[in-house]
Amino acid sequence: DKGAYPFYMLKEIDEQPAVMRRLVQEYLGADGQPQIDTELLAQMKAADHLYIIGAGTSYHAGLIGARLFERLAHVPTTVHISSEFAYEQPLLSDNPFFIFLSQSGETADSREVLVHVNENHWPSLTITNVDKSTLSREATHTLLLYAGPEIAVASTKAYTAQVAVQAILAKALGEFVGNQAAQSFDIKDELAKVANGMQALVDSKEEIEAIAANALAKPRNAFYIGRGIDWAVSLEAALKLKEISYVQAEGFASGELKHGTIALIEKDTPVVGIITQDRTAGLTRSNLEETAARGANVLTIAARHLAKEDDAIILPDVDPMIAPLLSVVPAQLLAYYTSLGKGLDVDKPRNLAKSVTVQ
Ligand code: M6R
Repeated sequence: DKGAYPFYMLKEIDEQPAVMRRLVQEYLGADGQPQIDTELLAQMKAADHLYIIGAGTSYHAGLIGARLFERLAHVPTTVHISSEFAYEQPLLSDNPFFIFLSQSGETADSREVLVHVNENHWPSLTITNVDKSTLSREATHTLLLYAGPEIAVASTKAYTAQVAVQAILAKALGEFVGNQAAQSFDIKDELAKVANGMQALVDSKEEIEAIAANALAKPRNAFYIGRGIDWAVSLEAALKLKEISYVQAEGFASGELKHGTIALIEKDTPVVGIITQDRTAGLTRSNLEETAARGANVLTIAARHLAKEDDAIILPDVDPMIAPLLSVVPAQLLAYYTSLGKGLDVDKPRNLAKSVTVQ
């Protein structure tokens, strides 16, 4: 039931702080340490490479997870679109471990890969919102997202839950293998900060609604740009905007703009920059200036410690590794309000189904 909400999507965006708190309860002990099955951790430790498989938003969540597994657990990790992996399998390492990300646990493209993984007796984990779903039943291990039912076609709380569960798992694996970076990452404290930060962002809806009305209501196309994990969030931000508001939106690595895409910038083309990483903030800002010089309507979503006066949306500070948990929220709201402003059916965009059970 969506109660007083006009659409499930807005309800689900608003539920994100509570989902973060639930994940702390479900997965972290009183000492703040992850409580993860040691058999799962032992199988992951025995692997020489993690392969993350997902589609759409779940693929985008995997892009964040890969960086977390590499940084916190020091294990090489690659992310693959399930429909690509199924038919163009890369050369695998000797001891692969597969992580399937799927809100529904029923995505046919991802299942196709899992069938192949099982034929080869490779160990696997499904991270899903639906207990006993197909991908959960058929994988070696399951971790649940505890996000509650996600009804809107556009995935929101499942994305942030997927990122958070991967952060918890990467922390657990990093501790299990004795990696220093994991030992100094206080996941409990960080997820508490994330929950509070998300609450502050969803409480500033009206500002984001105004930005959507000014910048995104009319243009036919828009760009999100960033570097590193900010680029990964740009891909998710663009997907949200295109699937529910029908604005042709693309996420770009900001350094790539000058290699072609900047030719598309015209007067008032919206370009949203995501800036949460110390090393790349200055570079992304200068890329944004290059688009502004060609007439772009530049908007910035910046972490507080990197913020400048003109930034449109300022994010509370958290560990930069998990900044996507916050930077995605304004992008979800921008997509929501753009769709709402156009009078579209936010929860049921044209041509799309919640769960894609065909290949
Ligand atoms: O249930 P899944 O996570 O496997 O679904 C994957 C995609 O179909 C899904 O994320 C889709 O891209 C959403 N509509 C995105 O908002």
